[in-house]
Amino acid sequence: MPAFSAYAPGKIILFGEHAVVYGQPAVAAPVSQVKARAVVNANLRGLPGSVRIQAPDVGEDAELASLPANHPIGLAVRSVLALLKIQSPPACTLKVTSTIPIAAGLGSGAAVSVAVLRAFSAYLGRPLKDEQVSELAFEVEKVHHGTPSGIDNTVITYGKPVYFIKGKPIEMLKVPVPFTIVIGNTGIASPTAAAVGEVRQAWKAKKALYESYFESAGSLAASARQMIEHGIVETLGPLMTANHGILRKMGVSSPELDELVAAATKAGALGAKLSGGGQGGNMIALVAASRAERVAQALQRAGAVSTIITVVGKPE
Ligand code: PMV
Repeated sequence: MPAFSAYAPGKIILFGEHAVVYGQPAVAAPVSQVKARAVVNANLRGLPGSVRIQAPDVGEDAELASLPANHPIGLAVRSVLALLKIQSPPACTLKVTSTIPIAAGLGSGAAVSVAVLRAFSAYLGRPLKDEQVSELAFEVEKVHHGTPSGIDNTVITYGKPVYFIKGKPIEMLKVPVPFTIVIGNTGIASPTAAAVGEVRQAWKAKKALYESYFESAGSLAASARQMIEHGIVETLGPLMTANHGILRKMGVSSPELDELVAAATKAGALGAKLSGGGQGGNMIALVAASRAERVAQALQRAGAVSTIITVVGKPE
């Protein structure tokens, strides 16, 4: 029997993280240089209902039945079984691997969910539609993040740049002029739930102030969308840097992120900001394609543990 496998990319948030949780628009794009992969193989000698889950990157090797209810991979598998009303699937082994750094703002949790949902439903002979994949991945995100906006599961499921407003139908972005982004990893693991929780506490304490931050970030995302769709990409740089300033005020930057943002700008980036939950994780810099290598090297000299050069809007 053949193996059933699926990949899902990482993602960056170009504009609007955190504010998106409070209903503001945000812009995100997939990053295909890093991926989560799920592979399902039938286990012909296994007992019906047995699903062995192996995730060697995180040292997991267990039967589905033994996993706690909130285990993210277990939850993804169980949600497929519940949706398809299957109680006892044919025995199989599900192996999950990923090159997306964990807790780094690149959507590793959502990518693992999307890959698992696709590979496992294909193994059961009933591959899920994109809407179903995104919706179930969102349910798993709630376990990771508490109050996710839904942007990660959306951009990762559809694998295209998106303009996203929580609870609204997704809008794919047209990108007539692709642009180059350098991603720099601080190497500091920072769970999104913690940053999102801190912003919520701060918002509760200073509602008017935080809402003004969210609105400013939202208008940057709306302007950025216009520029991207009209192919005026150089002007996105200052908008990114402005968004970073707002995120700093929100309290989700860190000295390491600020340092990488400054190093990218000094090396000729058109603009830079943290991306994702913040307080660690990754930052992004908009660059002219010819400067990408130079900016990546400057980021490494400034302490980035890894860098990725990606092009947003590149035809697949
Ligand atoms: O998963 P991360 O770290 O890329 O963060 C997602 C973006 C947030 O706006 C911080 C949270 C959310 O659910 O939108």
